Amino acid sequence: MIIAVDGPSGSGKSSTARGVATRLGLRYLDTGATYRAVTWSAVDRGLDLDDTAAVAQRARELELEVSTDPGHQFVIADGTDVTAAIREPRISAVVSKIATNLDVRKELIRRQREIIDDAQNSPQSGGGIVVEGRDIATVVATDAELKVHLTADQDARMSRRGAELESGSVTAEQLRDQIVRRDADDATVSQFLVASDGAVTVDSTHLSLEEVIDVISRLAKETVPQG
Ligand code: DC
Repeated sequence: MIIAVDGPSGSGKSSTARGVATRLGLRYLDTGATYRAVTWSAVDRGLDLDDTAAVAQRARELELEVSTDPGHQFVIADGTDVTAAIREPRISAVVSKIATNLDVRKELIRRQREIIDDAQNSPQSGGGIVVEGRDIATVVATDAELKVHLTADQDARMSRRGAELESGSVTAEQLRDQIVRRDADDATVSQFLVASDGAVTVDSTHLSLEEVIDVISRLAKETVPQG
């Protein structure tokens, strides 16, 4: 069983998808981490991020390991543990440049599908995986049994990102700018932020994390009653 969870940044996607996987004993894939890992590597090597061919080449050459254990997330890029580094503001600020590189997308979508297949075949999978991103239901796993489009209004998304970035490295204004800019950047890749056919839209604006996890877990059980 594949559960696709798509939505914009700050919709609570990651915590929700990981929580559903933990609740149901499934694997979990954060596809955004793959775009972040390529970004980290390109930045680490000092590549010109506008050189789409060089960045795509880096994506193809990068040795990438992404954990699908919802209880123990890590990302290893060319042997370096980049789990924390890929979340740094310097990476968040430029990742959409890499995510809108169509050759990078082609390579990462191929790898995401491989990770999904491997996870589903692993003895720990519990028969399924929750995959989180922007284009999961529309591109990566169009055969997903359950497709969830998670939304939240801009203020709710702001305050959630604000909590994440409490370290104080950005102001509220910068954060709103970032969210608006990233939505616009993300929207330049076709099919982004558009709910796929058959997707269930869950608006998390007025729900707690636990409530959203409850809703999606219930939907998953209805989809595959024996699961
Ligand atoms: O969800 P996130 O913030 O970790 O995503 C990082 C970037 O990757 C963001 O610019 C959106 C992009 N992304 C994408 O293009 N497709 C996905 N399936 C997941 C993320």
